[in-house]
Amino acid sequence: MSKIGVFDSGLGGLSVLKEMMKVLPNEDFLFYEDSLNNPYGVKDEDELLEITSKIVDYLLDNDCKIIVIACNTATTCCMKALREKYPNTIFVGTVPAIKVAYDNNYKNTIILSTPYTTKSKRVEELLNDYTREDQIITNISGENLANLIELDKHDEIMELLHRLLDDYKDKADSLVLGCTHYSLIKAEINEVLPNTVLLDGCLGVANEVKHQLEEHNLLENNSGSLEIVNSKSDDLIKRSYEILNN
Ligand code: DGL
Repeated sequence: MSKIGVFDSGLGGLSVLKEMMKVLPNEDFLFYEDSLNNPYGVKDEDELLEITSKIVDYLLDNDCKIIVIACNTATTCCMKALREKYPNTIFVGTVPAIKVAYDNNYKNTIILSTPYTTKSKRVEELLNDYTREDQIITNISGENLANLIELDKHDEIMELLHRLLDDYKDKADSLVLGCTHYSLIKAEINEVLPNTVLLDGCLGVANEVKHQLEEHNLLENNSGSLEIVNSKSDDLIKRSYEILNN
């Protein structure tokens, strides 16, 4: 019997976990919330690889058969290196839903991600592959938004969202949530941009995990249990269960 290991720099991974638990109700999950090292989005590659390798070691030591990087920043920065370092481990990552905006023919799309993801080669490549000539793309850094979400600072979240997004009200028809933390504040983003469709990749990740388990003959019929560990404080785990049950 083994579990699906999931990690993020904190609460953001819950948005992916929620979808996975719906798509794979008979799997057991172990979610590692790395709140201690949040935010990832301002760290450099060496530091992030060291941090994420330790988490992968932990998840493998705790009987995980697949590892889901429920974080765009860690996926963008480290997935390739982690695959090389752990060649026998199956990794599934998270990628900003830029292709979804393209496929749905949106005309004016904002990509909102962490500072690292915003300027990453990965986003540049996705935009090269999936932008039409008649599509306006605005690539915006969410600055310290993920950290404010982690700390539950509602007023500061709203202040930052207004500063970053007010200019796009009634202009942007779509916004790609390029950080898993941002999926937890969809209501707040829609308060600032009421006529904008928000796109995330959470369901896509869940379907890909199912596909990988099928491919490798690793699907199980377990009780659907969930264990959450938090690298900063056990007190934060209670809030995670509240978010999941919401
Ligand atoms: N939730 C993460 C992401 O999807 C990272 C947030 C952060 O720690 O900066 O990028």
